[in-house]
Amino acid sequence: MTYTSSTQSVPEVPAVPRHVAIIMDGNGRWATKRFLPRVVGHAKGVEVVRDVVEACALRGIKYLTLFAFSSENWRRPAEEVSVLMRLFVTALDREVAKMHANDICLRVVGDLSRFDANLQKMIANAERKTAQNKRLTVTVCANYGGRWDIMQAVEKMVAGYPGATSFTEEQLAPYLSMAYAPEPDLFIRTGGEERISNFLLWQLAYTELYFTDTYWPDFDGKALDAAIASYQQRERRFGRTSEQLVESKKVS
Ligand code: IPE
Ligand code: IPE
Ligand code: MG
Repeated sequence: MTYTSSTQSVPEVPAVPRHVAIIMDGNGRWATKRFLPRVVGHAKGVEVVRDVVEACALRGIKYLTLFAFSSENWRRPAEEVSVLMRLFVTALDREVAKMHANDICLRVVGDLSRFDANLQKMIANAERKTAQNKRLTVTVCANYGGRWDIMQAVEKMVAGYPGATSFTEEQLAPYLSMAYAPEPDLFIRTGGEERISNFLLWQLAYTELYFTDTYWPDFDGKALDAAIASYQQRERRFGRTSEQLVESKKVS
């Protein structure tokens, strides 16, 4: 299925966001506040992922995209990076069968070549096993960067049109790593920071942004509902005036 681009035509505005993208931030501070090692916050964060996946499925959200590890997170202490990798492996091991049983499709996007061979194999197996599932697509962004995404897409596009010197947005779009999903309707960042941190730079062009001080390990279905309620208050104009929007609603 191909989706319309928010800059090329005005997309449909669903009451319940079809695609929610989350920067799960604040694990370290959650732990530090409790005098615990940062990695305890990461472990708790993984449990919250399980609950939020379920909450999204129950609310009829079709795509949930989670920023798990950025291309800049390699700058962290080696010990923390290695715990994060281990948590990823354990979570795949424990959760994939359950996701499959619940009709959930799992995708992992990012530059996976930097992960060890075992992890890459586990990811490929999980994606293959759940590929046909329809209820909810969960995308985990791992060693992901918005600039990396755009650059890898440009490289593939250029190779796909030998000799061409000018390109359109439509020609680039299929090479972006999340071409299978509509652009996010709602972006959530937990942990109090109000920045994008090189997440889905291209795809967030017209996404509604929501920031909360809640640390990721404290996030839950109720917090998700608060974000959805805020989204439902927004007027998504996509460049038009408010009056035009009112008119278009009268017509349809
Ligand atoms: C988000 O929590 C998890 C990852 C980046 C992997 P942090 O680890 O960034 O937590 P804070 O921001 O230090 O509290
Ligand atoms: C963004 O969080 C990346 C993930 C949640 C995976 P960071 O905690 O790494 O972001 P910065 O460094 O504060 O911008
Ligand atoms: Mg952080």
